[in-house]
Amino acid sequence: MAREVALLWWLMCGFAGLVLVVVSALWIYAMRRAPREITPEQAKRINLRWLVGGGILLPSLSITVLLLFGGSIGERMLPLPLLGEQPLRVEITGHQWWWEVRYPDSGVVTANQLHIPAGRPVDLQVSSADVIHSFWVPRLGGKIDMVPGRDNRIRLQADEPGVYRGQCSEFCGTQHSHMILHVQAHTDDDFNAWLKARQDAQISPLAGAAGEIYATRCGTCHRVAGVSAGQRAPDLSDLGSRPMLGSGVLTNEPGSILTWLREHQRLKPGNAMPLHEDIDPAHLQTIATWLEGLKP
Ligand code: CUA
Repeated sequence: MAREVALLWWLMCGFAGLVLVVVSALWIYAMRRAPREITPEQAKRINLRWLVGGGILLPSLSITVLLLFGGSIGERMLPLPLLGEQPLRVEITGHQWWWEVRYPDSGVVTANQLHIPAGRPVDLQVSSADVIHSFWVPRLGGKIDMVPGRDNRIRLQADEPGVYRGQCSEFCGTQHSHMILHVQAHTDDDFNAWLKARQDAQISPLAGAAGEIYATRCGTCHRVAGVSAGQRAPDLSDLGSRPMLGSGVLTNEPGSILTWLREHQRLKPGNAMPLHEDIDPAHLQTIATWLEGLKP
């Protein structure tokens, strides 16, 4: 689909370029040619010819051609019913400033990353929990707005396994640029293995004082499957396996989660997570290490 959008863009660019060249050539010709006498009758006829040809026929023809191309490309992007293999369904909700990703058929939830099988259509149902965001993975397809209270749909298909970058493309606040979605297209087997690992993951809660802090401070907003059920903030059940933290702010390497927990307001000012300055550093370290181990 992205390829077709690109093709349409180049066609429009080429046509607009051609119009520019022709109009400029006519303009230069009109300025340079020797003046000649014409009667008012002739002037009227020439004007009429330009009005009808250049003002009505040419625009109507170009718009018709563009509509024919654009309409058929647009139609192929719609999530219309398919014969044979059914699309994978995924629900994506935009938040200031992160992505909530749900697989309704398997109950798997994640955040800021989208895992999909390559070579199979994926129907995304997108919405927003706060302001208007826009979902866009430029190398896979078109853009679609994420509007609170409304479900929009778009179909994507990755032809090949690989990593694709998604980016919120509607200004949604100061950290709009830090709203990056990591899209990973897998082979069918790898995708099924990922989904199954996520479904089967058994996470043991953190024990002791750090566990207590997690439950009262973190777990009220964040969900970890089988441990805490918060709904306001990103699901953390597979945090250790995510390539990025903070929706694209930090690469997830050993130690990055602790850095994020300590400095998230410096790294991504205005994000909804409170500061952790009052938490004993040793306990914060224990929580970070536990989160780092969540890699189903
Ligand atoms: Cu979300 Cu811009």
